[in-house]
Amino acid sequence: MEVANTIDAARRAVKQARKQGKGIGLVPTMGALHRGHVSLIEAAARQCEFVVVSLFVNPTQFGPGEDFNKYPRPLDQDLVICRAHGVDLVFAPTAQEMYGRQNLTWVDVEKLTEPLCGRFRPGHFRGVATVCAKLFNVVLPDRAFFGQKDAQQVAVIRRMVTDLDMPLEIVVCPTVREADGLAMSSRNQYLTAQQRGQACTIYRALKHCEDRIGQGIRDAGLLVAAVAEVLRQVPGVEIQYVSIVDAETLQPVDPVSGEVLVAVAVKLGSTRLIDNIVVDAGHS
Ligand code: PAJ
Repeated sequence: MEVANTIDAARRAVKQARKQGKGIGLVPTMGALHRGHVSLIEAAARQCEFVVVSLFVNPTQFGPGEDFNKYPRPLDQDLVICRAHGVDLVFAPTAQEMYGRQNLTWVDVEKLTEPLCGRFRPGHFRGVATVCAKLFNVVLPDRAFFGQKDAQQVAVIRRMVTDLDMPLEIVVCPTVREADGLAMSSRNQYLTAQQRGQACTIYRALKHCEDRIGQGIRDAGLLVAAVAEVLRQVPGVEIQYVSIVDAETLQPVDPVSGEVLVAVAVKLGSTRLIDNIVVDAGHS
C-alpha cells in the first residue's frame, strides 16, 4: 500500500495502475475510519482493481464554531485499517496541499443544499462538493463510493457529477449500524456513556415512522410528529429537523407516497448526529 501526501504522488500512483489496465475506485473520507467506511472500501475492492482511500479532514466544509479542530485524526490506526482491507493507495494531503494559500473557486450545487442540513450548516455542502470535485480531478476514478448515511451529500454529489459531466459513477452503500441501531459515525466518539445509550433512540424513531407508514398513515405532519415524539424521550435532545422528502430532489412529500427519505438531525449535548431511512410508501 502506498501513502501519498501530495497531489503529484497520488497522480503518479494512479497513472501507473491505469497503465496496467486497472479500474480505479475512490473512497473519499475524513479518516477516523469505522465499519461504515470499511463497507465502502470493501464495495470498492469488489468493483475495482485499484482502490484509493482519501483521508482528509476538509476545512472548507466546517463552519465557524463546528468541530474542525477536535475532529479525530488517528492516522496510524487508519493506515492499519486500510492496509488490512487491501487498499492500494491512501491519499492523505495537508490542507496546504489541497487548497494552497487561498481558494477562489467553489462548486455550488443550488437548491439541493438549502434544506435539511443546509439550513443548519451554511456553506457545508459547498465545501463538500468542492473537495469531492478536487479529489475526483486528482484521482480520476471510474467509481466513487459514498454512504447512504449522508443522504443529502449523496444527492448533492450525484447532481454535481451530472451537471458538470464528470466521467465517473457514484456508488451508494447502505448505512452500517451498531448492534442497537445507532448509525456508525466518527462523531459517535464525542458522546458520553449516557448519551451513547440514548443515541439509539434516533434509529428507533425512524423505525417507528416506518411502522406508522406501514399502518397506512400518509399525512407527513402526523408522521413527523410521531418521530419527534420518540426523539423527545431523550432528555435535553435538540431536534434540528425531522423531514420526509423525495430522496433525489429533497423536496417535502405530503401526503407520503412512493420511496421517501425520512431524515433526522439532532444534537445530544454539543454532538450533532444525523440519520435517515428510505421507506417505500407505495402508491395509492
Ligand atoms: P466521512 O464522514 O469520513 O464519511 C466518508 C464516507 O463514509 C461518506 O460517504 C459517508 O456517507 C460514509 N459513511 C459514514 N458513516 C457511514 C455508515 N455508518 N455507513 C455507511 N457509510 C458511512 O462524508 C465525509 O467524510 C466527507 O463529507 C467527504 C465526502 C469525505 C468530503 O470531505
